[in-house]
Amino acid sequence: MQDKRDFITLGNLKKEDWESIFLISKKIKEKRRKGEKIIPLLKGNFMGMIFEKPSTRTRVSFQVAMEELGGRAIYLSGKEIQLGRGETIEDTAKVLSRYLDIILIRTFGNEKVEKFAYNSSIPVINGLTDLLHPCQIISDIFTIIEKKGDYRGVKIVYVGDGNNVCNSWIIAYQTLDFELVISTPENFQPDWKELKKRGWLERKPVYIPNPKEAVKGADIIYTDVWASMGKEKEREMRKKFFMPYQVNSSLLSIAKPTSLFMHCLPAHRGEEVTDDVIDGKNSIVWEEAEN
Ligand code: NVA
Repeated sequence: MQDKRDFITLGNLKKEDWESIFLISKKIKEKRRKGEKIIPLLKGNFMGMIFEKPSTRTRVSFQVAMEELGGRAIYLSGKEIQLGRGETIEDTAKVLSRYLDIILIRTFGNEKVEKFAYNSSIPVINGLTDLLHPCQIISDIFTIIEKKGDYRGVKIVYVGDGNNVCNSWIIAYQTLDFELVISTPENFQPDWKELKKRGWLERKPVYIPNPKEAVKGADIIYTDVWASMGKEKEREMRKKFFMPYQVNSSLLSIAKPTSLFMHCLPAHRGEEVTDDVIDGKNSIVWEEAEN
């Protein structure tokens, strides 16, 4: 609608954008650690946070970040807001633009976020949809830089469901020079066609359906839940297909001894990951969550 920068997909980030995000994040994190005051860059700004799906990390981290940067955050539950049901998305977007300075949306269809952004005059952040989870991958790659010194040349193996998190890894891979291997059951692959149609698949990552083959030489083994939010009814059915993709000590032993384990959380312990792996010495999930 106006000249504004939405953050709906990683596909809009250039290499320079990534680099400046990492630089600013590092500086802010250092200040936080030392208990120093962070420059209130967002002083006087209000952020609305619409959540049509549950959230722990995204909700709390955005609220804290907003307040630490001098702004305020308002939580808007999906039950009350009902994007596109109680009121049209267009109308909600226009109205909220008049009160707020920025908005974060977590919902089901990515089209809802896109429609909202199109009709609003304030920047829109994608806080997860069925298709994408861009904020997660920024903090993941930042964590990799902290642990490995760089993301360049790092071999990341995604094992599990070809979902929103997996798609966002694939999109980041279009711009950044890491190695990416995707290992999902054949019938739960990422939606390659959709990614291609949207221009997010200029270079296809290596796809290896056999997880034992895929994790060979991995620097990072990454997984996510088998039944994402909204797919809970498929949980039992999915278990049958996904059991070979469980990240357990036997799968980890095929990779390098230095391989690190990552998970966007929440984890379903005993399903996609075992306790010994998530709580083990190779796991960096808590640092990842902090970032
Ligand atoms: N794929 C998961 C990610 C949760 C952060 C979900 O959509 O539920």
